[in-house]
Amino acid sequence: MTDIHDINRRAWDRRARDGKRFTKPVDPHALVDPLKRVDGLGWLSPPDDVAGKRLLALAAGGGKHAALYAAAGAKVTVVDISDAMLDLDRKVAAERGLDITPLRASMDDLSALGDAIFDVVIHPVSTCYLPETRPVYDEVARVTKAGGVYISQHKQPVSMQADVDPLPGAGAGGGYGLIEPYDRCDALPPVSGSLHREEGTVEFLHTWSALLGAMCAAGFVIEALMEPDHRDAKARPGSFEHRSRWVPPYVRVKARRVAGGVPEKTGPALWTPDE
Ligand SMILES: C[S@@+](CC[C@H](N)C(=O)[O-])C[C@H]1O[C@@H](n2cnc3c(N)ncnc32)[C@H](O)[C@@H]1O
Repeated sequence: MTDIHDINRRAWDRRARDGKRFTKPVDPHALVDPLKRVDGLGWLSPPDDVAGKRLLALAAGGGKHAALYAAAGAKVTVVDISDAMLDLDRKVAAERGLDITPLRASMDDLSALGDAIFDVVIHPVSTCYLPETRPVYDEVARVTKAGGVYISQHKQPVSMQADVDPLPGAGAGGGYGLIEPYDRCDALPPVSGSLHREEGTVEFLHTWSALLGAMCAAGFVIEALMEPDHRDAKARPGSFEHRSRWVPPYVRVKARRVAGGVPEKTGPALWTPDE
């Protein structure tokens, strides 16, 4: 493990202990109709339904995702770098009798898992915690069966570029400045007071080539894409909901593992000459 892995592991252990955002186990009422909570788009409708399938919840500790998919009938393996996050899954699984196997690992090294064993991979926001996406996608491609579904959510690059506070004097009608270059490869500076980043973690901006191009290069075809809506026209300037009107925070992607081996490791170029 690198320093980056270790800093983020400790940060998420702390966040789980302190009950911070994304560390709240599922409300038991949601387990009655679990897919309503996590699959509003119907991306997991037949033939991609999860009941009886082997599902990997990747970087998804916290007692929420694994519990919901297990309640929907999936045999869930939940991977996370943070033991404190996985403890929340262990607790919910024991309390509710759910089929959940926790595994502490980093999403870019799933060597504890065999080849082509999962029908479905669910991957909540987390590629931002590593400098490269391709090693993660290569591992997801390796453990997913041909024809399997990969649903992931990521932070949009523009959200990592834009300032937390509105432009001076912009008021409710104004916008947010871009303060990070699109090609920033090293760790982003820490921020506080914004819900679009997690304090205490080390995060990286990933370009669209890195988010989507690398996914295709690793052996997936993208079938659907949506941008979760966090806008609120009445929100206070500087709030997450106000900023989300100018700066979409997330993108969600449904992809499918194509048949055949993992392709050659040719990552997508950030920019290619325009013809
Ligand atoms: C935003 S949370 C996602 C799950 C959360 N329960 C939720 O409600 O969305 C991000 C998760 O990624 C995990 N994580 C960070 N770096 C990781 C890595 N390299 N490998 C695996 N998990 C990682 C964190 O421990 C945390 O549980």
